[in-house]
Amino acid sequence: MTTTPGAPPDATTGSLRIDRARLLDRIDALARVGAIEGGGVCRLALTDEDRAGRDLVIAWMRDLEMDVVIDAVGNVIATWGGDRSRAPVMCGSHIDTVRTGGKYDGNYGVIAGLEVVETLAAAGQPLDRPIAVAFFTDEEGARFHPDMLGSLVYAGGMSTETALELRGIDGTRLGDELDRIGYAGPAPCPGVVPHRYVEVHIEQGPVLEAAGITIGAVTSVQGIHWEEIAIVGRSSHAGTTPMAMRRDAAFAAASIAVRVREITAAVAGTQVGTVGAIEVHPNLVNVVAASATITVDLRNTDRSALRRAVDMLGVACDEVASSESVDITRRVTADFDPVEFDPSMIDLVERTARDLGHSVQRMPSGAGHDAQMLARVCPAAMIFVPSVDGLSHNVAEFTDAADLEAGANVLLHVVLREANGDPA
Ligand code: GLV
Ligand code: MN
Ligand code: MN
Repeated sequence: MTTTPGAPPDATTGSLRIDRARLLDRIDALARVGAIEGGGVCRLALTDEDRAGRDLVIAWMRDLEMDVVIDAVGNVIATWGGDRSRAPVMCGSHIDTVRTGGKYDGNYGVIAGLEVVETLAAAGQPLDRPIAVAFFTDEEGARFHPDMLGSLVYAGGMSTETALELRGIDGTRLGDELDRIGYAGPAPCPGVVPHRYVEVHIEQGPVLEAAGITIGAVTSVQGIHWEEIAIVGRSSHAGTTPMAMRRDAAFAAASIAVRVREITAAVAGTQVGTVGAIEVHPNLVNVVAASATITVDLRNTDRSALRRAVDMLGVACDEVASSESVDITRRVTADFDPVEFDPSMIDLVERTARDLGHSVQRMPSGAGHDAQMLARVCPAAMIFVPSVDGLSHNVAEFTDAADLEAGANVLLHVVLREANGDPA
């Protein structure tokens, strides 16, 4: 690899393109690790499947002669080319998935980053700044709350010590699971502050497909609030306990779920709300439930509207606790304000997409992303490509090959322009 600090951008840069077949082959190869029925993937963070996926991606990084560093919470940062005394232009995403995930969420961004490196290497492209491709631990937050955990710690938003002590949904300790899969790395976290961070990701929603647009220039990520709500009632006989004498934890859980739906309607605008997990004990047909635990996910692009929704959830819990005579304990497991991306980087994504001949529109992100955490420490931006039927966190998640290729090429040229100084 030739490295020429300070060199002007290569005049041939405009013709560089990633290799679509190689991009798709790697996506499919990674999707075979933890494959589940229906074409989906289950690689919850720090499981054996996550370890196998990590091993595969790191093998690819080493094949590309990247310098691979693993930090104290298992984030993996691979650096290549450029003047190593300068801060890198970083891209990447995550390779953990939800339990019934698709093969593109996160994985696409990491593999597209490898495509950027392999394309530049094959072209002998001179680079001023190094390029780093990262995958961050537990972006999904499905096993260990909060989501975007690894990038949060990377950006200094949570201490490594706090992260290592987190308990997963299966009761395991994050630090123990990191050790168990061999990914408690030696590098300190927070890590190197990038010059820029840019992440390509599937949209995971219906907006681009409905508009017939290929590229989303992401302007912001909505705020996220997660709670785990524990309800304690009293188990009793389903046949003999009069309705007025029940302290029914299952009924209370269901009531809160209904109230969450009502809160989204009352707050309106972009407010969404989800009760995604419900556990009931003893979970038997003829026993009034003794206890229940539910999760609530509230999101809004508007910070004060999100706060209003959270307050309304508090009122709902108090009212249900009192009307059903149950005890309710709320535990906040994630709470992130909306994030605005860097205006000049949003411009660059938009301009680069146009230069490459793609239709592009600005849009906020409904899903959480590592880029929102990196935005705390450096200018950051995201590139979206359409999701067929707007589906994600579903085994049927799909994006057309041409769109995956388009997004990876936009990533390539945004990274290159940031690494060598944007000629525009
Ligand atoms: C994580 O990716 C989320 O948006 O829940
Ligand atoms: Mn994702
Ligand atoms: Mn996801």
